Amino acid sequence: MSHPLRVGVLTGGGDCPGLNAVIRAVTKSLILKHNAQVVGFEDGFLGLVERRIRPLSYKDVSGILTLGGTILGTSNKANPFKYHERGGADVSPQVVKYYKELGLSAIVTIGGDGTMSISHRLQEMGINIVGVPKTIDNDLMGTDRTFGFDTAVTIATEAIDRLHTTAQSHNRVMIIETMGRYAGWIALYAGAAGGADVILIPEVEYDVNEIAKICRGRELGGQNFTIIAIAEGAKPSGGSMEVKRVIEDSPDPVRLGGIGYVLGDQLRSLVRSEVRTSVLGHIQRGGTPTPYDRNLATAFGTYATSLVVDGRFGRMVALQQNRLTSVPLEEVANKTRTVPMDSPMLAAALAVGTSFGVESIEANLDGQETTAAIS
Ligand code: F6P
Repeated sequence: MSHPLRVGVLTGGGDCPGLNAVIRAVTKSLILKHNAQVVGFEDGFLGLVERRIRPLSYKDVSGILTLGGTILGTSNKANPFKYHERGGADVSPQVVKYYKELGLSAIVTIGGDGTMSISHRLQEMGINIVGVPKTIDNDLMGTDRTFGFDTAVTIATEAIDRLHTTAQSHNRVMIIETMGRYAGWIALYAGAAGGADVILIPEVEYDVNEIAKICRGRELGGQNFTIIAIAEGAKPSGGSMEVKRVIEDSPDPVRLGGIGYVLGDQLRSLVRSEVRTSVLGHIQRGGTPTPYDRNLATAFGTYATSLVVDGRFGRMVALQQNRLTSVPLEEVANKTRTVPMDSPMLAAALAVGTSFGVESIEANLDGQETTAAIS
């Protein structure tokens, strides 16, 4: 008689809406279709290092589809190759030993860039891994979408909608700063959906005089308020990104934030209206996932199960041109997918008159010279 399939699941890095939906999908489909045993590691890779697991039954994952966060817990400081509790020691050999002792066939790692990079290294050491792409930032290589992004965009869009009414009442310039690290996806999609007048993303260095021109133009034209959506990674031409803090024991130690306030200060003397800044922060990561993210997470989770069952390890589930597929982990590890200058959303926003804080980026779309600095 062959051994039952035994599979581990963990959620790594910062949390995001939809993690529980993936845990549910992986666990239920493994149990229902393959009579497998499923165990969850607590707090991401920390559970693998510190030998903390819990069995996951069908009942354990019932009723969690709509829950934000992760029932398994997560950590964005847990790196088996640099374990902070032991002064940054490489404890990966112990992790491989534990994996073997547990008699696992594979581990499904649900996470972002940091998680996929660690997964790739562990895969090379003999742990069978299937990755599932998570992050509100939508910046993972190899997939057109990560789950969590749609929810973050929905939350940021609602915030922009709400800013509209107060901006209008007070004739103000309202700046809203979104998350996203080094990619402008959230600011672009929420800014476009919320009808922001100016969208500032890391991929296009902004010119503050150009933004002031837009605000003044609106003041003179009778549209006496301006909404500016700015990604936390945006920066002025020739300037640098705003680093809020550095977390030394995190795989990606830099935390961005505060550029919305910098822009507010830059603009204040250049426009007639009052200027206010709102920073949306972790609200973008909290609460229940949107229906789109629930469905994407469920599809990703069940697809991960099929990769495990087929023995297709060292791969990350992906969505490409609306089809489920998978890509090798090594193509994802240590890379960031930023907004390309031929993004249809960017083109659409430009076509309806949205400014990206530079005089012209249309020229760049045609592959010609542009005034925008593209990072
Ligand atoms: O990667 C997700 C994200 O929310 C980024 O958008 C943001 O820069 C970062 O994580 C914040 O990290 P932390 O939760 O450690 O403050």
